[in-house]
Amino acid sequence: MHVSHIMKKNPIRNMLKMRVAHIASEVDPFSKTGGLASVLGSLPRAQQDLGIDTIIITPYYEKLIDTATYTIDRVGGVEKIEVEPGVFEKVYYRKGLLGTEKVPVYFIENKKYFGQHKKYYGADNDNARFLFFNIATLFLLKKINFTPTIIHCHDWHAGMIPFLLKTRYKKDPFWDKTATLFTIHNLSFQLGHDWFTIPPKGIDDGHSKLPLFANTKKIERLNFAKRAILYADAINAVSETYREEILKKPFGEDLDQLLKSKKNILFGIVNGIDYDDFNPLTDPGLVRHYSSKSVRLKKYNKKALQMRYGLFVDVEIPLICTTSRICEQKGFKLIFEIIRDVLQRGVQFLIMGDGDNQTVRSFQELQKEFPGQVAYTKFNQEEETLLYAGAEIFLLPSRFEPCGINQMIALRYGCIPVVHHIGGLADTIEDYDPQTRTGNGFSFDRYNATDLLIAIIRALENFKHKRAWRDLCIFGLSEANSWRLPAQKYVDLYLVTIQLKKQNHQERIRKSKLLRNTPHT
Ligand code: GLC
Repeated sequence: MHVSHIMKKNPIRNMLKMRVAHIASEVDPFSKTGGLASVLGSLPRAQQDLGIDTIIITPYYEKLIDTATYTIDRVGGVEKIEVEPGVFEKVYYRKGLLGTEKVPVYFIENKKYFGQHKKYYGADNDNARFLFFNIATLFLLKKINFTPTIIHCHDWHAGMIPFLLKTRYKKDPFWDKTATLFTIHNLSFQLGHDWFTIPPKGIDDGHSKLPLFANTKKIERLNFAKRAILYADAINAVSETYREEILKKPFGEDLDQLLKSKKNILFGIVNGIDYDDFNPLTDPGLVRHYSSKSVRLKKYNKKALQMRYGLFVDVEIPLICTTSRICEQKGFKLIFEIIRDVLQRGVQFLIMGDGDNQTVRSFQELQKEFPGQVAYTKFNQEEETLLYAGAEIFLLPSRFEPCGINQMIALRYGCIPVVHHIGGLADTIEDYDPQTRTGNGFSFDRYNATDLLIAIIRALENFKHKRAWRDLCIFGLSEANSWRLPAQKYVDLYLVTIQLKKQNHQERIRKSKLLRNTPHT
């Protein structure tokens, strides 16, 4: 459902002073494994610009956050919070600031849950860790007296909050005016463990009372995403197409029926990117700045890129790059099936990213086999944009992609995406037609290696037509994928969410009155 459609029916544009608390497990630049962190690093800032009182709450990963670079001070002393009747946990709250907009970012510090691991996820007790995070978040909001109009919960890590507010804390007047929005960034993640490994008998029904922390087995089977979908006032996916896809198998990841029953409160909003952070005219990571008026200067970045990564320095050789988490979802299986075929055509391949060790090793071997033609490098945020600035083609053939951010960044640097037509990739990349000169990239419909190969070949063929290719770059560079529009759409969705909460509340009152007035027989 489109937010704008609902908004026409509910023209309440009165934002007054809206207060929004974003709850998420990652916030760029403090903590990051993927696109979720990028969204949290930029959407709240765009909302602050719109005049919304915005804060973020996230865990304090003691062993991972770079405290030498970022100032994150403790606020107040140690607190003891009651995480379940009679059980207390120590917690410290910390505060940092995000961007020039200075959005307050609060951190939840607790040795046991977030001070021991050198990785963000993958602990045996991830559910307990994030359940604690959700409870501590609600205590924090009360402590700092921030009564949110909206608690915006991102992915499963924040998914227990809507449930807690409608059950354990439902009588607390502090939350009377707070509505919850659950954003699905990736439905394949529903709890701290792979959802499909939970035995059928252990599957969380989504409604039952929370088990005690001591009952680790039951805690670790709780499905946070399911509970969020059941209890949030509204839900959205990070693109309109993904919103449709999760209503069906296989992308519904076993929650498709549940989502179908929530269709009326399920929306889709495509992410944006920060146009100041990603700007080829000012980016300190480039050797030569350029804009849509000077794309010819891209070649200096290409030379620098080729030199830096040991590729043959020749601006005429087409250069394909990919930068993403190295995992099955991102389509690396297909890339491996076709890469030799592509290399035979004399192109260069540059891969940046961390992830699956086996895949990384295969790229390293390929680099040895094709010196000067293939380069693999670990993920390096500072150097990432030079890839887009230097390469001609950006590859993202994801098997599924809720939104995808890198294809938008690539466009911003005039690097043309080749993508699988799915999820957010379908919403942001339109297949190029050389006849009509419409489209901004190359895409393929069916997820198989041959179709990917054809899309790459089409891109390479078009690259030979220098004039048309330059126009394609200019078109990409001029596209408007900033947060301006999505940030406004989220505000509209917040207003809808508030309305939905009111409706639910009235409905509950009506039902309880009905029950009270029903004569007993
Ligand atoms: C997840 C999704 C990705 C999306 C990002 C931000 O990482 O896999 O598609 O862009 O979240 O919403």
